[in-house]
Amino acid sequence: MSASAPSRDTIVEFLADILRRRGAESYLGESVTMSEHMLQAAHLAEEEGASDELVAAALLHDIGHYTNEFPDDAQDRGIDNRHQISGAAVLAPFFPQVVTECVRQHVDAKRYLCAVDPGYFDRLSQASVLTLKLQGGPMDATEVEAFRANPHLDAIIRVRIWDEGAKEAGRQTPPFAHYEPLLRRVVARGD
Ligand SMILES: [Fe+2]
Repeated sequence: MSASAPSRDTIVEFLADILRRRGAESYLGESVTMSEHMLQAAHLAEEEGASDELVAAALLHDIGHYTNEFPDDAQDRGIDNRHQISGAAVLAPFFPQVVTECVRQHVDAKRYLCAVDPGYFDRLSQASVLTLKLQGGPMDATEVEAFRANPHLDAIIRVRIWDEGAKEAGRQTPPFAHYEPLLRRVVARGD
């Protein structure tokens, strides 16, 4: 269990430290590591000229795979081990709602896109097809309607598409440190 709880002043360094120590872990079934995946997603967002908030969301969307780094109370807020829920929970004290919603919804966004865009499923990686099944498969019409009501829908979809594109072995990106000033700005702005 990690030492002390992060604060607004230390959260960016806290995240950087997790990635420094554990970023080389494999991203289940993909040919990139966790940190390569997260940095590629952030870089795709940056290349599209996305806002700081969306670059932060792309960078941190999978932080839920590391929630055992956070103190117990933060984990409890996540309720179960679904990484999108626990990831949003550990970020919520520090990051604006658009960031945490993109994190919380990034799995459902895949289920949504598979339901509304017939071509989307074909673009999923093998591992992503496998997890789709475990995550409940494509949404049904009622779920699609409810998902569309999310005020952050557009942002959520964009992050999902960067997530899907961020699985390319050997793709060069800036290091995590490049995104630290951006993360600090987003945390400082608050909600
Ligand atoms: Fe991801």
